[in-house]
Amino acid sequence: MEFSLKHTAPENARGACQVITVSQPRKLSRSGTRVDKASKGYLTSVMKRGDMDGKLGQTLLLPAVPGLGVQRVLLVGCGKDSDINERNYSRIIGAVISTLGASGARDAEIYPADISLKGRDTIWKTRQAALLFANSEYRFTRLKSGKPEKPASLRRINFNLPRSDAGKAKSALAEARAVSSGMSLARDLGNLPANLCTPSYLAKQAKLMGRTHKNLRVNVLDEADMKRLKMGSLLSVGAGSRQPAKLITLEYRGAAAKEQPIALVGKGVTFDTGGISLKPGLAMDEMKFDMCGAASVFGTLAAVAELQLPLNVVGVVPATENMPDGLATKPGDIVTSMSGQTIEILNTDAEGRLILCDALTYAGKFKPSYVIDIATLTGAVIVALGKIPSGVMGNNRALINQLIKCGEQADDKIWELPLWDEYQDQLKSNFADMANIGGRDAGTITAACFLSRFTRDYKWAHLDIAGTAWKSGEEKGATGRPVPLLMQFILNQVKK
Ligand code: BES
Ligand code: MN
Ligand code: ZN
Repeated sequence: MEFSLKHTAPENARGACQVITVSQPRKLSRSGTRVDKASKGYLTSVMKRGDMDGKLGQTLLLPAVPGLGVQRVLLVGCGKDSDINERNYSRIIGAVISTLGASGARDAEIYPADISLKGRDTIWKTRQAALLFANSEYRFTRLKSGKPEKPASLRRINFNLPRSDAGKAKSALAEARAVSSGMSLARDLGNLPANLCTPSYLAKQAKLMGRTHKNLRVNVLDEADMKRLKMGSLLSVGAGSRQPAKLITLEYRGAAAKEQPIALVGKGVTFDTGGISLKPGLAMDEMKFDMCGAASVFGTLAAVAELQLPLNVVGVVPATENMPDGLATKPGDIVTSMSGQTIEILNTDAEGRLILCDALTYAGKFKPSYVIDIATLTGAVIVALGKIPSGVMGNNRALINQLIKCGEQADDKIWELPLWDEYQDQLKSNFADMANIGGRDAGTITAACFLSRFTRDYKWAHLDIAGTAWKSGEEKGATGRPVPLLMQFILNQVKK
C-alpha cells in the first residue's frame, strides 16, 4: 500500500473515496462540515434519514455525492467524542479498512486530525492509521497450494493534514512502514512451521538480512563455538534434537563504535515439546511459536536497518529445538552456565530460561546500555494477565517505566509484575546453585528471578510475551508483537 500526504481543502478532494468521520449524535467532523456544504447538505440529509448516526464503527458508503469531485464518500462513526480512546481509534480505522476493502476504491483520503483523541496529536493518529492499513495487507499463504487470492484494489491512502505537520508526518509514515514490515517478518517467521523454521533456517534468514542491509553484521555460532564459550545451559536444551542449535547475533551499527548498543535478546525455541518433561498433546502445534521472541528481534532489527537509525543495536538469538530423545537432558541433570553458575534442571520444559541465561551472559560482551529480552517464557503470564499486555520485569526502574510508556504510545501494552527478592528463595536447589523452576506459585516471576541472576552487570528488562505473540483459535497466527513496542523504545532513544 502506498501512503502520501495531502494538504488540499476537503471540498476540493479528487479520487476514489473520501473518508469522513461522524461522531455521536450525528455530528460531522470539520472536513465533513465543509464537504457537506459543498454538496448542498447531502450528508446532513443522509443522516437525517437515519442512515448514519455516528455509532462507533458504523459505516455508510455513499457511491455518488452531488457537488463533489470524489467518486465516493465513506461515512464512518466514531461514537461520542469523549469516548474515543486508542482502542476505539483502532476500531474506527479498522471499520474504514474493511469497508474500503470490500469496495472497489483504488485510493482513499482520510483526515486524521478530525478524530479527537485525548493526548494524541495528528502525527500519532497518522502513524497509527498507517500501521493499521499496512498491517491489514498481511497474509500468510506461502504454504497453500491454491491460486493466490486476487490482489486488493485499494492501493493508496492519502493522509490529509495541516501543512505544518508535513515534516513530522513524513517520518511518521516511514516509521509506520518500517514497523509494519518488521512485524510482517516476525509474523512470517512465527507462522512458519517448525519442520521448516529450524535453528539453521533462522541463521540463514539472519545472514540474508545481513546481505540486504549494509550496516547489519550477522554472526552465527555453532554448537562447537558454544562449547568453547562454555554455554552448558544453552547446549543442554538442544541435546535431544537432530537440529543443531545456533547462536545468532545481528549487529546494527548506525552510530560511532564507542556508542553503547541497545541489546535485544530473543528466545528462539523453534519447537518446544517440553523435552523429557513432555507437554500434553493439546494445542502442542502452537509451540512452533516458541521462537516469537527471536522473531521480534529479527523484525525490530530489520525495521531499524530500514530506517537507518543513528544508534547501535545488537540482537542476540539463541535458537534450538526442545525435543525428547535418548541423549536429551533429564530432570535432575545439572549443567554449568557460561556465567559459571550451576543449574539443576528439574523440569526440561522450563527451557527458555536455560537458553536465555547463556545468551544474556553473552550479550554482556557488547557492553550494552540496556538489555531487553523477549520470550514466550511462561504459560503463567497468561493466567496472571491474559492476552492483552505482555509481562514486564527487570532490574532498572527507569527502563521499566520507559518501556511501559512506549507500550502505551505504540498501543502494544505491557504490565509489570513485582520482581521482589522474596521470590528468589523458590529457586533453591539442594545440589546446584539454583533450580530451573520455582514451583507452582508466581511462575512468571520466578522465571524472571532466574534470569535476573545472569543480568547483574547491566540495566535489564524482561518481556514475557507468551500471551501476546500469537493468537489461538480461528485467527491462529503470530501477531508481530512486541515489534511496535521495541521500535517505539528505540525511536524514543533517537529522539532524545
Ligand atoms: N514455551 C513455554 C511457555 C508457554 C506455554 C507459552 C504455553 C505459551 C503457552 C515454556 O517453555 C514452558 O514450557 N514453560 C513452562 C514452565 C514451567 C515448566 C515452570 C510453563 O509455562 O508451563
Ligand atoms: Mn517449555
Ligand atoms: Zn518454551
